[in-house]
Amino acid sequence: MSKITAAITAVGAYVPDFRLTNKVLETMVDTTDEWITTRTGIKERRILKDPDKGTSFLAIKAAEDLIAKRNLDPKEIDLVLLGTATPDMPVASTAVYVATKIGATNAFAFDLQAACSNFLFGMSTAARFIESGKYKKVLLIGADKMSSIIDYTDRTTCIIFGDGAGAVLFEPNTEGLGLLDEYLRVDGSGREFLKIDAGGSLMPPTEETVKEKKHFVFQDGKSVFKFAVSNMADVAARIMDRNNLTHDDVNWLVAHQANKRIIDATAKRMELEESKVMMNIEKYGNTTSATLPLLLHDYEAQLKKGDDLVFAAFGGGFTWGAIYLKWAYNS
Ligand code: UT7
Repeated sequence: MSKITAAITAVGAYVPDFRLTNKVLETMVDTTDEWITTRTGIKERRILKDPDKGTSFLAIKAAEDLIAKRNLDPKEIDLVLLGTATPDMPVASTAVYVATKIGATNAFAFDLQAACSNFLFGMSTAARFIESGKYKKVLLIGADKMSSIIDYTDRTTCIIFGDGAGAVLFEPNTEGLGLLDEYLRVDGSGREFLKIDAGGSLMPPTEETVKEKKHFVFQDGKSVFKFAVSNMADVAARIMDRNNLTHDDVNWLVAHQANKRIIDATAKRMELEESKVMMNIEKYGNTTSATLPLLLHDYEAQLKKGDDLVFAAFGGGFTWGAIYLKWAYNS
């Protein structure tokens, strides 16, 4: 019997309507459109304004988009994985709520948390379930309501992040398509540079933690930038070497959208021309768990069966890695 690989067979996405532009940010904090554009590549980001909606709302919308596009019966889904850094609640898995709401009544479900590498690590997790032969349809969603953990008076973070969600379906493939290799890394000494101090078991919430704004994202951008540039480029180059891929072979780089300069550096290391680099950071900013599936959604029409894709991400923790995947369908 041919080896089972895990192929992506459908994509869905959702972003909220409200656009927070650089121009509007200029009125909120001491920044300029020029600074944000040249330092990050971001022009605007989407924000989920409704105070009574959490990450599950975004995730459900993305999953429903995929289900409608594929004409999929949600009862056929075996597993729902949700990568998120902003679950609806600290306890009661958001993935479980999402699975029930989309009608995946035969699935089990759980959340994954590895910051901006959520979707990448989720791809690896989804693939293992498919490769086992026991599970036929795994829905992987990346969703984040980053606006719920951002201090909109802090110019070092509020210009970067946005809200959004994307979803992909993994199914077994025996033609050699799908996830073929991965190189995933972590370094816990990095947690000082990108974190939310309070609200977890180490620093439970108190009046002081709220007053001191310790429930918002803190980022030492310069340090994270240095680690991100070298590590993301390293793993992307390594996965190419390991699979004997040259820059001619690679059709697409699908890289986490944190900063255009980091993506450009990775592409340069891979000797990849600009037209092969998926990019939508200008529209959405950094949506944490949703960047990779939002790219797949925006570029889906250009992808062809057999295309060689290199995925790469870097996130808080630190977490990072690269995945080599052969695209499985023409849309
Ligand atoms: O997705 C998870 C992983 N995260 C990342 O990969 C993010 C990595 N880091 C970055 O993308 C960049 O470090 C940032 C975009 C966050 C910042 O860019 P930078 O080029 O590293 O700027 P910086 O932090 O070194 O700041 C340069 C200057 C500072 O002023 P001084 O000290 O030189 O006078 C900052 O105070 O820019 C100032 N600055 C700003 N100026 C205008 C910082 N934020 C802003 C701002 N507008 N929004």
